[in-house]
Amino acid sequence: MAISLPFLSRRASPPLLGIDLSSSCVKVVELVAGQKLPVRLQRYAIEAIERGAISDGNVENPEQVAEALGRALRRMGTRTREAALALPTSAVITKRITLPAGLGEEDYEIQVEAEASQYVPFAIDEVNLDFQVLGMAGASTEDVDVLLAAARKEKVEDRVAVVEMCGLRATVMDVESHAARLALEHVTAMLPNEGQGQVIAVFDIGSTMTTVAVVLNGQTIFEREQVFGGQQLTQDLVRLYGLTPEEAEVKKKTGDLPETFRSDVLQPFVDQGAAEVMRALQFFFTSTPYARVDRIYLAGGSSVVSGLLEEIAERAQVPTELISPFQGMELAQGVREKQLRVDAPGLLTACGLALRRFDA
Ligand SMILES: Nc1ncnc2c1ncn2[C@@H]1O[C@H](COP(=O)(O)OP(=O)(O)OP(=O)(O)O)[C@@H](O)[C@H]1O
Ligand SMILES: [Mg+2]
Repeated sequence: MAISLPFLSRRASPPLLGIDLSSSCVKVVELVAGQKLPVRLQRYAIEAIERGAISDGNVENPEQVAEALGRALRRMGTRTREAALALPTSAVITKRITLPAGLGEEDYEIQVEAEASQYVPFAIDEVNLDFQVLGMAGASTEDVDVLLAAARKEKVEDRVAVVEMCGLRATVMDVESHAARLALEHVTAMLPNEGQGQVIAVFDIGSTMTTVAVVLNGQTIFEREQVFGGQQLTQDLVRLYGLTPEEAEVKKKTGDLPETFRSDVLQPFVDQGAAEVMRALQFFFTSTPYARVDRIYLAGGSSVVSGLLEEIAERAQVPTELISPFQGMELAQGVREKQLRVDAPGLLTACGLALRRFDA
């Protein structure tokens, strides 16, 4: 199977599950056509996976990941069997190259393979390759820009194997950052003037990593990863209150913790999170020609930690909000709105994958 970026194959897909296999949990989203609005969130599930089962984006223990996915599927009660998956952004090499215009599909394949062998640090037969002709290269009518994407076969196969263990078929293999951007586009399309001209920063604060993407007019102009996430909060709870990691995960969400939690654990975490965001913004300003951002969206499971949004808004002095990728969609009756508000920011990538169904 080829890796395909969202814009690589704009074909209508059959019923599809968006499945985000991440370091702390499995996230599954199913979108269907709505009645009054184009899209309806039919169902979703988030299931924790054993620690270490996915580490640094690698599937270390496929059985444990499949077990969590199996639980998520049972909880959702879906019959859909096709799955859209994503590779971690760091596992994919993407490169814009220039090739002569007007070649046949097969000639492009040969050329792309030849080019790829220059950029990919492994044997070409160990690699899954995909490409997309983007359009004319600059003023030239003789050349076209082509985007090539390459990932190790093994990384693709590991993820495919997990879904196959659960009786699913992987029909799309995307890249996490591209899937997240597709979901973001869906949200920014609802901004005044569709967000045109706005410099929009999205911070995805996950379990171990925080990624930032800055987007302007649909183009990603900056991307960066920093080591920061909610696992740190969990570990502090384990260390300070003698909880197991599983207990800490639960109590962090229910807030069932000693009085001292706010001052001793939460505030330092919020301070550090906001400092990480400011640091990333500084990198953005110093490494690009841009001197401002107009809007900040927070995504990722840890973005909902109490006080974090307010602290970031205060320090950055930029309108800041939690992202809801399901904004502007219908909700099926079975979806609990209150819980969805807490879960939605963490479902950005899974939602982007599920949206692939509507690619026209
Ligand atoms: N309601 C909540 N309150 C506080 N923290 C939460 C809540 N829900 C989820 N989290 C935390 O969010 C983190 C998971 O977020 P997310 O699913 O975005 O991470 P991930 O994608 O698995 O991690 P990474 O991107 O680092 O690989 C966990 O640390 C979890 O404890
Ligand atoms: Mg994540």
